[in-house]
Amino acid sequence: MSNFNTETVLSVRHWTDTLFSFATTRDPAFRFASGQFTMIGLSLEGRPLLRAYSIASPTYDDRLEFFSIKVPDGPLTSRLQHLKEGDAILVGRKPTGTLVHDALLPGARLYLLGTGTGLAPFLSVIRDPSTYERFEKVVLVHGCRFKAELAYQDLILNHLPADELLGEMIRDQLVYHPMVTREPFENTGRITDAFTAGRLPGDLGLPAIAAEGDRFMLCGSPAMLADMTVWLKAQGLAEGSNANPGHYVIEKAFVER
Ligand code: A2P
Repeated sequence: MSNFNTETVLSVRHWTDTLFSFATTRDPAFRFASGQFTMIGLSLEGRPLLRAYSIASPTYDDRLEFFSIKVPDGPLTSRLQHLKEGDAILVGRKPTGTLVHDALLPGARLYLLGTGTGLAPFLSVIRDPSTYERFEKVVLVHGCRFKAELAYQDLILNHLPADELLGEMIRDQLVYHPMVTREPFENTGRITDAFTAGRLPGDLGLPAIAAEGDRFMLCGSPAMLADMTVWLKAQGLAEGSNANPGHYVIEKAFVER
């Protein structure tokens, strides 16, 4: 049996010159956990060209959604950015990844820190009811260079709070904190600097980070992951895995594609 399903592109949305999202059909037998990624790609002259992509849609959606950069000379994204409704796309049948609840110890607050397309796995996590059953507060911090890159704000700020099933949990428990580094914005600067300087989580009215109650999922630029990990360790937090749950888990955003 093939390792891939061939799905059909249902919609494409371009956010900026460098960012776009697309939704596809979903094989009814395809299962994943919120926060996981899978290999996706195109068949080129009979050969698959594949890259890892976090699944941005919730586990119960009958579509799959992906959030991608466009790299002008990237082997895959230079082609993917031209996807249109009705095109075929390969979707790996074996999703995997570390940004999953089972890799974290129970806690009171879950921080989801993403830069750029590192937001993608968290779009699934924040639409998973079990996220709100496990944590009192869920803090989504999205860091980008420019305001226009803060994709999915309409979903996060308008649609989810009004959602019939999730709305109440989202309104009570989800805190969204967008940040921009290269132009003026309500929250400027890097995510890591906000934590090291103490602006986060204090500005959100939440207690100082401690291993007892705080859990983190990180996804984004390798530099952000490296810097944030140093700080988290200094606060006494330890990395987790499915085999050995801990206080934080990390996944690099899959750039250079
Ligand atoms: P900056 O503009 O200061 O480089 P990129 O588009 O390069 O992937 O970056 C996405 C966001 O991640 C940008 O806002 C960038 O800030 C930020 N970033 C880059 N390196 C780090 C880091 N070491 N810690 C925190 N944020 C970072």
